[in-house]
Amino acid sequence: MLGSKSFREKLSKADVALTFRDVVILPGFTEVEPNEVNVATKATRNYRLNIPLISSPMDTVTESEMAISLARQGGLGVLHRNCTIKEQVEMAKKVKKAESFIIRDVVTISPKNSVSEAIMLMEKYHISGLPVVDGEKLVGIVTGRDVRFTDPKLKIKDVMTRDVITAPESISIEEAKELLQKHRIEKLPVVDSSGRLKGLITVKDIMLRGRFPNAVRDEDGRLLCAAAVSPFDLERAKALDEYVDIIVIDVAHFHNKRCFKATKKLLKVVSADVVVGNIGTYEAAEDIITKLDDIAGLRVGIGSGSICTTMEVVKAGSPTLYATAQVADAVAEYGADMPIIADGGIRNPGDVAVALAVGASAVMMGNVFAGCKESPGELVAIGGRYYKRYRGMASPSARAKRYAIDRYQIAKGIVEGVEGWVPYRGDVASVVEEFINGLKAAMGYAGARNIEELREKARLVLLTDAGSKEAKPHSILLPSETQFES
Ligand code: XMP
Repeated sequence: MLGSKSFREKLSKADVALTFRDVVILPGFTEVEPNEVNVATKATRNYRLNIPLISSPMDTVTESEMAISLARQGGLGVLHRNCTIKEQVEMAKKVKKAESFIIRDVVTISPKNSVSEAIMLMEKYHISGLPVVDGEKLVGIVTGRDVRFTDPKLKIKDVMTRDVITAPESISIEEAKELLQKHRIEKLPVVDSSGRLKGLITVKDIMLRGRFPNAVRDEDGRLLCAAAVSPFDLERAKALDEYVDIIVIDVAHFHNKRCFKATKKLLKVVSADVVVGNIGTYEAAEDIITKLDDIAGLRVGIGSGSICTTMEVVKAGSPTLYATAQVADAVAEYGADMPIIADGGIRNPGDVAVALAVGASAVMMGNVFAGCKESPGELVAIGGRYYKRYRGMASPSARAKRYAIDRYQIAKGIVEGVEGWVPYRGDVASVVEEFINGLKAAMGYAGARNIEELREKARLVLLTDAGSKEAKPHSILLPSETQFES
């Protein structure tokens, strides 16, 4: 006997852990057209996204390029940690530098420097102008035009423009645009009431804002950025905290005494929003809600990832859909403000809709984004088609790089992931477009205008084996197949 239950009951009363391929959304009465659907959501307690898509912190998925592209589309990239602290910090800096309304770490020059030094700085940082400062005080500006055909030995004070058009720190984007246009200038230094340089606004950055109207940005207009850390790596967390908005605690099984203890320490030294995971049960969520303060989000699902072998090898796991419903109930019952990120096993827009319907605020995808132009790694041609490399962070080659080993308990020494290739899908913008159009169509079927309504209104039905077969194209010979199945 096992407590009051028998072993037979343990088997016969086992929960059914439904997964994405088991269910479909039952179409409901709708007054909503897909183009009226709003898919804005929350990634964490304090950060909103314009689309509910997040890329996995994996070394074949998210480095700066992916994080920049996804944030420009309104989603979020989580920088992987299978590298040195310095390398990961560099990635975060690159994301934050990609665009901003007011640049804060401005490259400047002194009036005593020479023209040749100005040229060197402009070339090194790929910039076309430098505010001139005496101490902290703005005294002029030099642009490429001022120095290009000038004697390189001349001093900056002899070539700089002294009458600088400046902006106060409280300036709005519209006001900045007006000033830049009115004076036909490219750069607008921002100064405080004592004339000290506080930042720089450039035409280039303002134009980028227009090109990516859906982008998600921080208060300074820089793209939102998240990064993964081990709960035991305080040094990494502290180093990243200066640059990222969100820190994602990245372990395969967070519901663990050591992880809780380490996270308590980590929470004390960082100011970013902290997301913890992965978890897969009601009880894990309950313990996080009641035993940890200040958790800003939950990463949910264990073993469903397309490269995972955990469920197969160690027979442990909580399929993402089942896990999301479990955790969402705990969050709702405790009234906690902890958005859920459903992570693993998502292959198409319908899977996203189903995850949101059972309580997720966003989904995390590795496989889908690994196939994009912006993921790390080269295109490979296999049998006349293009692919990109994709590997689990517990696969033999990822583990060989050692930094991510502690995601999967060090003592186990067990391989819990595979590596291979995924079909090339083109750039992030086109993948996002495909997923968001599909998601909006699914929400239209459910009669939901937004994600909140999808959670309330969407009814799910179970498919039988026969139903699953019927759900795919059938009774037709497709170009990619050689056998006819009726
Ligand atoms: P998809 O299905 O999008 O899943 O490829 C990505 C998620 O899988 C997790 N992950 C792993 N899980 N072994 C695992 O058991 C691994 O080697 C592994 N690598 C990544 C992770 O949660 C990721 O977001």
